[in-house]
Amino acid sequence: MTGTRLAAAMIAASAGAVMMQAAAVGSAQAQDAAKGKQVFNLCSPCHSIGPGAANKVGPELNGLDGRHSGTVPNYDYSDANKKSGVVWGEATFKQYIKSPSAMVPGTKMPFAGIKDQQKVDDLWAYLSQFDANGNIKK
Ligand code: HEC
Repeated sequence: MTGTRLAAAMIAASAGAVMMQAAAVGSAQAQDAAKGKQVFNLCSPCHSIGPGAANKVGPELNGLDGRHSGTVPNYDYSDANKKSGVVWGEATFKQYIKSPSAMVPGTKMPFAGIKDQQKVDDLWAYLSQFDANGNIKK
């Protein structure tokens, strides 16, 4: 009797633990953009984003969702980038950032790429929040 009750209690406890883990996973996914901000540390030596973002080694990245490649004023792009004809959006960005030189051969962006799909997803969630003025879209 006691043994059965103990086992039942243990099953209930482990079911609780599973539910807590599921809740933790849920909230991690909800915070994609916050995690993407950490991933952006890989980009920030060369790129700015947000209010007042300026061109650095690479062009500023505000309003990237829907932006045509090679169109930031006063930034000296490579011909490869300017002529690539890419419109940045979720699909094109995610393909590009896995291997920039594979998608835009001859680009002068010296970055090997990010292979981890979760990091790529989080990064896009972060980047795509910003409108052309660097404000978070409502
Ligand atoms: C070491 C410097 C460097 C790093 C690190 C870097 N980039 Fe770049 N990026 C550049 C340069 C330089 C260009 C311009 C490429 C050209 O003109 O060929 C560029 C271009 C781009 C473009 C195309 C912009 C446009 O207007 O067409 C995007 C998008 C981009 N980078 C995103 C990123 C992201 C996101 C990261 C981080 C995961 C990153 N880059 C990391 C230097 C860098």
